[in-house]
Amino acid sequence: MKSQLLDIFNRRHACHLFQVDQALVEDDLNFILEAGRLSPSSFGLEPWKFVVVTKPHEKLALQAASFQQPQLGTASAIIVVLGKLADMDPDSDYLRRLMAREYPGDALEGALNNYRAFHAATDVKAWCDNQCHIAAANMMTAAAGIGIDSCAIGGFVADDVLRLLEIEPSRQFPSLILAMGYCAQSPGEKQRLPFQELVEYR
Ligand SMILES: Cc1cc2nc3c(=O)[nH]c(=O)nc-3n(C[C@H](O)[C@H](O)[C@H](O)COP(=O)(O)O)c2cc1C
Repeated sequence: MKSQLLDIFNRRHACHLFQVDQALVEDDLNFILEAGRLSPSSFGLEPWKFVVVTKPHEKLALQAASFQQPQLGTASAIIVVLGKLADMDPDSDYLRRLMAREYPGDALEGALNNYRAFHAATDVKAWCDNQCHIAAANMMTAAAGIGIDSCAIGGFVADDVLRLLEIEPSRQFPSLILAMGYCAQSPGEKQRLPFQELVEYR
């Protein structure tokens, strides 16, 4: 199991050009999305939404919104990971519904008060963004596990992406875009700092 997992982490690489006209099987795409859905989140609030784009003209529009990065136009599917900014408001119905799962019954009101203080003291967008990246990483690893290549795209114009997806900016923001498909190029050698330089046992 250890070597299989490490093999998947080694195999995943940022693909910069995909083979066009290679559709992803829906079952595979749903498997990848399920890995995102099962990701951990702060307070269990799942502050993400996954929008799947497969139509050629929409992929090209996302490419245009991302400094013309060719991964997006050539990808078989694109997953836009959105952060649920407005739903994190302490007074939102969503927040109450999800907090009630973690803090059922009498525990809810106290937990909501604690959350209200946390929310006021926190950069909520950055907090959501960090968590969206965890879900995105899990989806890229899951994809690599079933032989599907990916590229995380953080280089995009957020306002353009929101306009394309017809999303109200005060409600959600694009955290990361994942291009998925079958790579048209062989990966280069993995570039990573040596283990000893990164890890410090105390
Ligand atoms: C948050 C984030 C944003 C990224 N944005 C882009 C991007 O806009 N375009 C791109 O080609 N690669 C992007 N990448 C991919 C990285 O460049 C790539 O993961 C890194 O160079 C390491 O290479 P590897 O993934 O092949 O091991 C992004 C990766 C992350 C984690």
